[in-house]
Amino acid sequence: MSEEAAKQRLDELVPELNRHNKLYHVKDAAEIDDRSYDLMFRELELTEAAFPTLIRNDSPTLRVGGAPVSGLVPFAHDVPMLSLSNAFNADELRDFDQRCRKKLGKDAPEVLSYAVEAKLDGLAAELIFEDGHLVGAGTRGDGRVGENILHNVRTIRTIPRHLIGLNLPTRLALRGEIFFDLAGFHEMNRRRTARGDKTFENPRNAAAGAVRQLDPSLAAERPLTFFAHSHGQADGVEMPEHHLEQLALIGSWGIPINPLNRLVEGIESVINAIADLGEQRNSLPYEIDGAVVKLNDIQLQTDLGFVTRSPRWAIAYKYPPPRVQTVLEDVGFQVGRTGAITPVAWLKPVRVGGVTVSRATLHNADNIRELDLRIGSTVSVERTGDVIPKVVESIIDEAHANLPAVQFPLNCPECATPLVREDDAAATRCPNTLTCPAQLTATIRHFVSRGAMDIEGMGAKLVDQVVERRLVTRLSDLYALQLADWCTLERMGRKSAENLLESVEKSRSRPLEYAIAALGISEVGESTARDLAQQFRSLDALIAATVEDLCEVRGIGDIVAAKVRQFFDDEGHMAEVIRLRELGVLFPSLPDLPDAAEAVDADNPINGKRFVLTGTLPTLKRSDAKKQILAAGGSVSGSVSQKTDVLVAGEAAGSKLTKAQELGILVIDEPTLIAWLESL
Ligand code: IVH
Repeated sequence: MSEEAAKQRLDELVPELNRHNKLYHVKDAAEIDDRSYDLMFRELELTEAAFPTLIRNDSPTLRVGGAPVSGLVPFAHDVPMLSLSNAFNADELRDFDQRCRKKLGKDAPEVLSYAVEAKLDGLAAELIFEDGHLVGAGTRGDGRVGENILHNVRTIRTIPRHLIGLNLPTRLALRGEIFFDLAGFHEMNRRRTARGDKTFENPRNAAAGAVRQLDPSLAAERPLTFFAHSHGQADGVEMPEHHLEQLALIGSWGIPINPLNRLVEGIESVINAIADLGEQRNSLPYEIDGAVVKLNDIQLQTDLGFVTRSPRWAIAYKYPPPRVQTVLEDVGFQVGRTGAITPVAWLKPVRVGGVTVSRATLHNADNIRELDLRIGSTVSVERTGDVIPKVVESIIDEAHANLPAVQFPLNCPECATPLVREDDAAATRCPNTLTCPAQLTATIRHFVSRGAMDIEGMGAKLVDQVVERRLVTRLSDLYALQLADWCTLERMGRKSAENLLESVEKSRSRPLEYAIAALGISEVGESTARDLAQQFRSLDALIAATVEDLCEVRGIGDIVAAKVRQFFDDEGHMAEVIRLRELGVLFPSLPDLPDAAEAVDADNPINGKRFVLTGTLPTLKRSDAKKQILAAGGSVSGSVSQKTDVLVAGEAAGSKLTKAQELGILVIDEPTLIAWLESL
């Protein structure tokens, strides 16, 4: 590969991996499965190894996991929580064994002893016990700082509040995995369906969502469980010299340890043990996505040490995603918010790894043709932990040839408009962006949502109704509806109709950033909308902005700039914007920035801002943090009020954090503050 090609590839891989990282760790909404992520990550590592001078500062190889999000209080790890490098086949395990021996040199024993453990697909957590009592719990976060989840961990029944036995450590940092067993997961989804709530796609996302709730009563109704697999600090106790003995000791204190853990001699036995575990995979009561192999001797672990992200003495083996065969009963075509047509395979229900699957994604028309899909034929379906299953293959048997091929529709299934296929993109779209009922429904759902116009009471069912009944045939119609119109809807009394009308009225003065976000410009989410509002200060200035002007906004690149420009260049969209304004949507302008000097300071997130510090900061003394904020032009006060701009929350932050959250004040953690200070 040439240097030029490598640079180009890194410029693609790094932002893409960072995006997936954020989806996985911060939003609990992965778009790709772990294996695809790992393979991409591997490609990044190899490219960086070949061209070390090209390593980008924002490369995910320089970090562990995703950065913490605000909302929960930061939780610092005394010893960083690392991740593991991966192996995908037996040879890569043999290489790992070779590397260990080579690095250990002549001191290496003839045959290395390994612990082989199931790799649970859950959420990594650290639990702190002091004098036997559970006093802290945090997620992994970026490996150094995660989020405090003690309030939710306390609701997990298999985690003891107090250790049992003699000779307990004075302080113990336990690490392990919080997860759902499949029975608990299904039970919870059944309850949610009964209540009319959305079900969770898979146990991992459900576990992550439950643990990162702010309200422990919500976590408590989700039956989570825990296995410990390692530890950080262990003070006041003599820990055994072998990993599995350590786990046994931890187990004797009442902490759940996975009974499948095994001790094996030599890498070939490791390979066999992993195969055995793979056989059991479908009958386990929880999901595993691989096996973890660790050198059992702690002294050898210490000798080998770490590289940036992971220990040299351990490796994760990833199983290929489980596959099953079933019958393709039908293919449906869904229309998304932007008009993209997504084919969906309807399958004869089949169990894969403990989850029943009846639906799978088919990316696009090419995908359907390549798979040679026929209605009624047998297909192979692959299911991974984090995404909707996908059809990977048609089984070409005698029956296949005589079955009808799946036809991609020529017209929109919702509005009959002829579909268009963009030249170089694989996507097929319905071009009727404004009035296609499917797109309109999705556009309105987005428009009324909390991060946009926040029209209270306007739930999904109501949106469906107003579109179905043709009360709303274009977005701006929402503001033309009268009380009498609302009253015609199902289950809508006069009082509720009045309330709705009032919510609609209130939304007319929604601040600019939300009103921009509400327009549903593709690639413009809440934070981009905020940046646009901050920069252009009025809707008219935004509409007038050229692609070059747009590119000047921090964080906005060519693609987003082009999308914004395209949106306002489109006559239909502009007509809607104009009509929204005619119907009283204000898009209120922001006051002009006082002068040029101040404008430059928009780049300084501290200057002129009022800060409040609360909780214990992981590294900075509060007085030092204050000094540095003052030096950067900010001010620090003792209590949270409307005037506060930023709350810096440390561990065990209490009422100030709650108040700041109520007031919608920006909450950051210490690493963010430090990053701000360092950026000046
Ligand atoms: S040991 C320094 N053992 O996999 C090594 N990790 O990529 C510490 N995981 O987030 C990890 N099962 O939470 C270890 N039996 C197991 C595991 C396990 C799942 C998770 C772990 C970490 C990730 C590593």
